[in-house]
Amino acid sequence: MAKDFIVTKEHRRFAEFATAVRKEHTIGICHGDAGVGKTLSARRYAHWDTLGAHIDEWGPRTDEDAKHHATANRSRTVFYTPEVLPRYRQLMAEIEHLQIRVGICIDEHQRTIGKVSGPHKDDVTKLIELLIVDEAERLTPTALELLRDEHDRHQLAIILIGMPGIDQRFRHYPQLYSRLGFSHHYRALGREELLFVLDRHWKRLGRTLDPDDFTDAQAIAAVERITRGNFRLLERLFPQITRVLKINQLETITDDVIEAAASILVIGN
Ligand SMILES: Nc1ncnc2c1ncn2[C@@H]1O[C@H](COP(=O)(O)OP(=O)(O)O)[C@@H](O)[C@H]1O
Ligand SMILES: [Mg+2]
Repeated sequence: MAKDFIVTKEHRRFAEFATAVRKEHTIGICHGDAGVGKTLSARRYAHWDTLGAHIDEWGPRTDEDAKHHATANRSRTVFYTPEVLPRYRQLMAEIEHLQIRVGICIDEHQRTIGKVSGPHKDDVTKLIELLIVDEAERLTPTALELLRDEHDRHQLAIILIGMPGIDQRFRHYPQLYSRLGFSHHYRALGREELLFVLDRHWKRLGRTLDPDDFTDAQAIAAVERITRGNFRLLERLFPQITRVLKINQLETITDDVIEAAASILVIGN
């Protein structure tokens, strides 16, 4: 999945937001519709596809370690997804576990470059600057309170990612709400970005997209109408488009093809 990641404007906006939250040592909320790309952006920001896998595995030393340690040192971020109905003790223990492991990676890197020597720090978790919690609507009031406490004690920057309305929900927790530094709305793809993504899809299907061509323009309009710039819908639509083309032995992606693909998608739900 990582290699297919498209650096969209929304991703860049997310990265700026995350960096700001981290620099200001504050708490930020990122909210947006399901499927717009919040999770992927956050994982990308935290280099979690590689770093997360490395710390999960935590196996014998390999030649790759130095690379992971350098990544951890740069990102200083832990990405965490609570389970549904998390128990707060387990949740805090899991977060601490990730913080320790990423902290050890950072510490190792600093030793390699000669910035640190001597005995290991007793608390490597202090090296973590940002904690990103995905699916934050799963957090119970107690968990939110504990995270807020973590933030107060260690100046840990925190980003809570959730669905639209999560920012309103947090209004009910004045302790947390008063500490919120930024609220970030993660939006669906705009027209230009949609075109950019479509262009890649068209190319993948061995075709070229020309927005000035009448047929292509109609196809684009159909995709826009059906997906409303939602990344997940878009990604689900394309395999169906391929199918429709193949079954009907068609060459051109027309709006009819897209409508047919979308109808399969709905039935397949
Ligand atoms: N930047 C991106 N590049 C490529 N595909 C993306 C990107 N963002 C999202 N997607 C696609 O959209 C799907 C949904 O993204 P996700 O981050 O899970 O959304 P959210 O967390 O907002 O519900 C992903 O599984 C992927 O197929
Ligand atoms: Mg998500």
